[in-house]
Amino acid sequence: MSGIGVRIAGTGSAVPEQRLTNHDLASMVDTNDEWIVQRTGIHERRIINQEAGESQLTLATSALERALADASMQGSDLDLIINATVSSDMTCPSTAHRIANELGAAPVAAFDMQAACCGFVYAMNLADSLIRSGRHKAVGVIGCDAMSTLVDYEDRSMSILFGDAGGAAVLTADDNPTLGCIHQVIEGDGNGWESLYIPRKQRDVVPGAVGEHIKLGCLRMDGRSVYKFAVNKFINVIQDAFESTGLTVDDVSQVICHQSNIRMINSAKEKLGLPDDKVYINIDKYGNSSAGSVGLCFDQLRKEGRINTGDTIIMVAFGGGMTWSSGVWQL
Ligand code: COA
Repeated sequence: MSGIGVRIAGTGSAVPEQRLTNHDLASMVDTNDEWIVQRTGIHERRIINQEAGESQLTLATSALERALADASMQGSDLDLIINATVSSDMTCPSTAHRIANELGAAPVAAFDMQAACCGFVYAMNLADSLIRSGRHKAVGVIGCDAMSTLVDYEDRSMSILFGDAGGAAVLTADDNPTLGCIHQVIEGDGNGWESLYIPRKQRDVVPGAVGEHIKLGCLRMDGRSVYKFAVNKFINVIQDAFESTGLTVDDVSQVICHQSNIRMINSAKEKLGLPDDKVYINIDKYGNSSAGSVGLCFDQLRKEGRINTGDTIIMVAFGGGMTWSSGVWQL
């Protein structure tokens, strides 16, 4: 370990005002509140208002702006911005550069990162490594997705799950080397990528895909395969975080889980003996916001005073790729 530590100087988050409830969806596709709540734990999700100019850019910018304010810092104090997302407004330039421009951060290194729902956890781990290497001193990390721009609202299997949100953190170099990420996993396996993907062209569509709902530019998912893969992977990744660090449940204040499905989170809680008050749940209000999910939980927990300086926390996620990731943080 280098002599450099990493401090989380501030966090922020942003969710759109507009709500999309299960009842709203039931008037759009053949579904109902009871089915959605029972299978996913979701009651409503937030959706950007594109006509009013909201986008992944505006959500991500607000989240980072709030994290900077929380850290009593300005955009110009950052030397790197990582914007983890699958829903960038444009592929060129990176949205990270436009966020930097909005926040007056220049010159600055900036890039978008795609790791689907693992985005925030991947980006936090990467930022920690870059700061410890001495390369960067102040990094703005954003996990943010406007999934409503990628969902086919005629497809009931997809439209019920996803929402829009962003979470951000500002990480700074610290003299105390024990602060920051003390264990991290960034992994994936491309075998199985086709269970969660966004085809742009007809040729991207996986042969044999069920044809009725194929809309190019919209997310496609084999929900059962993803569930089967993720339910065990989730448990293994959390277990590994405990075993690799020698920590027990008593040593950590929160295990922040990607909000994909309440049944998966409950299964992990049950298998690993995690108490309710250490596993935050907000999927009921926001659905699965992909890269936004863990950062949103992290910020809400800090703002509620449930995570404080001195705490040890675990962040864990899985997503398209397939990807999985964890980070154990000493705050
Ligand atoms: N409303 C009502 N019925 C629905 C429905 C909906 N929105 N979507 C599917 N159904 C029906 C199916 O047609 C099926 O009917 P059948 O039994 O007559 O064939 C039945 O409900 C069960 O469908 P199934 O797909 O097996 O449901 P499930 O229990 O696997 O739940 C998911 C579906 C998507 C909630 C679940 O598979 C899941 O959460 N997967 C993981 C998704 C995920 O986390 N993705 C993001 C990764 S980061």
